[in-house]
Amino acid sequence: MDENVVWHNYAVDKAQRSEQKRHKPCVLWFTGYSGSGKSTVAGALESALHQQGVHTYLLDGDNVRHGLCKDLGFSDGDRVENIRRVGELSKLMADAGLIVLTAFISPFQGERDMVRELLDDGEFIEVFLDTPLDVCEQRDPKGLYKKARAGEIKHFTGIDSDYQAPVNPEVTLDTSKNSLTQSVEQLVAHLKTKNIIG
Ligand code: PPS
Repeated sequence: MDENVVWHNYAVDKAQRSEQKRHKPCVLWFTGYSGSGKSTVAGALESALHQQGVHTYLLDGDNVRHGLCKDLGFSDGDRVENIRRVGELSKLMADAGLIVLTAFISPFQGERDMVRELLDDGEFIEVFLDTPLDVCEQRDPKGLYKKARAGEIKHFTGIDSDYQAPVNPEVTLDTSKNSLTQSVEQLVAHLKTKNIIG
């Protein structure tokens, strides 16, 4: 950080922005293998919350990699930078008072913990999509596992790139056992228990 760059305090702060909404801000951080259900569950939860008048925004790995992170690939270093940028973006969106949903493989515990540290206490909700790798590979919705097994994609998570399962996630979902409706209900119940939504 350049020593001549000085923090500027805004006239309207996070608490004031949040007061205008009927919910508290938070970041629901979905993590899991490709094909584990991150985007599907996050999307269904966003629809359910939106219908209740909750101000949400969904950040999805595939989409963010079309813009903000289009210069990044899938080396360990690029994944670290991807999550750093998305973590900072999530912090800004939570500062704006939103309930942010993020759907990134985010394979490393260290980077997920780094995002947790960026946010206020209780604001980071780690949602582990604990769908077994073999189920994700059977689903293979984009045909990427097939390509990875054929050696056409390098550094594919679960095949030749590491995934570190969360140590102590706030919520664990297994989409091979639970329906989409059950997963959404479990998350809505968690948000209510934590008084984030009414
Ligand atoms: S990460 O690890 O958090 O930086 O990855 P993320 O930004 O979530 O991007 C994952 C999506 O990119 C596609 N894809 C790959 N995933 C994993 N490994 C490799 N090598 C790879 N190449 C492309 C894939 O569609 C992932 O989307 P999801 O939704 O997880 O299936």
